[in-house]
Amino acid sequence: MAITWDASFSVNVREIDDQHRKLFDIFNRLLSGMGTQDRDFIGGAIGEMVDYSKYHFSTEERYMELFRYPQYAKHKKEHDDFIAKVEDFIGKWNDKKAALSLDVMFFLENWIRDHTQGIDKELGPFLNQNHLF
Ligand SMILES: [Fe+2]
Repeated sequence: MAITWDASFSVNVREIDDQHRKLFDIFNRLLSGMGTQDRDFIGGAIGEMVDYSKYHFSTEERYMELFRYPQYAKHKKEHDDFIAKVEDFIGKWNDKKAALSLDVMFFLENWIRDHTQGIDKELGPFLNQNHLF
């Protein structure tokens, strides 16, 4: 279930690839905390995941806007939906109405894998055409 970065994830833009690696690291740290149910550890890791995701998405969105990417709205919506879902979970988790379950981890894993290997990889060649590598 851990996500290991390899060349299949590359969008061929160094800054974005580096940020994806860091996002995978945070996911893997959260995964390692799942079995412990240690609230301080999990709260820290999932808080970092949402904060870093916002920072990372804003990097991609800045380039999409700068170069007037035709698929910007669709791509941004995926980002916004992800943040909304994670923040909704954090709210429930804070109120002890939700646990960090395997289902939650599968959702995060699948979303991160699918988004990075799908819509982000479609963006890569467009950024390369705009001389961003
Ligand atoms: Fe993205």
